[in-house]
Amino acid sequence: PDDGPLSGRHVLVTAGPTHEPIDPVRYIANRSSGQQGFAIAAAAARAGARVTLVTGPVRLATPPGVDRIDVETARQMQDAVKKALPADCAVMVAAVADWRTKDVANSKLKKRGSAPPVLVLTENPDILAGLGSSPLNKPRLLVGFAAETDKVVEHATEKRKRKGADWIIANDVSFDKNGRSVMGGAKNTVHIVTRDGVEDLPEMAKEDVASVLVERIAHALNE
Ligand code: C5P
Repeated sequence: PDDGPLSGRHVLVTAGPTHEPIDPVRYIANRSSGQQGFAIAAAAARAGARVTLVTGPVRLATPPGVDRIDVETARQMQDAVKKALPADCAVMVAAVADWRTKDVANSKLKKRGSAPPVLVLTENPDILAGLGSSPLNKPRLLVGFAAETDKVVEHATEKRKRKGADWIIANDVSFDKNGRSVMGGAKNTVHIVTRDGVEDLPEMAKEDVASVLVERIAHALNE
């Protein structure tokens, strides 16, 4: 709505995994479903923001009122993010692959001979850290996510400083007691890490996490 708490603001959201090709049929990916990022984009749009959602490959419908840009790789995501700037707030929810294969094979790798192929990896750009360290076009409020399996808040606190983010939303993605990964599930247990401290939220549906975060974002931008 025009009179929503984020009306007149541009919010940029990244979501989903990235796919890093090995050859024309194979890729490296991760368990990210995109649900949390899409829920944040939806909540920001409901709050009146103009929303740009840059997403890796996911199976989700575009939320109403959201401009969606589909990408596959980390480098494509970084290009799309740069093009979408400036933004009042960027929420980097994407589970960007840390590494990509150094060389992509142009033909499908074959099982010939006995030796399996060796994948040589190289580091992807860190999109969040890039925004955090850029004096040009840095969003006023820069929010990152940190999926962790241990020392969740400690690692997120360190990450907030290292990446130049204002907030890091830490979430626990350990295996549950049945040995299933919680990444890709419908719920999230998050901790909001800011320069002032840590706020622990209870386990909530990802839509509810999104509502709380958008409320906090609107408050911070309107302060
Ligand atoms: O270091 P880690 O991957 O845990 O950091 C997570 C945060 O950094 C998320 O906000 C994620 O979207 C962002 N990130 C990024 N580009 C990368 C790696 C992570 O923007 N190459």
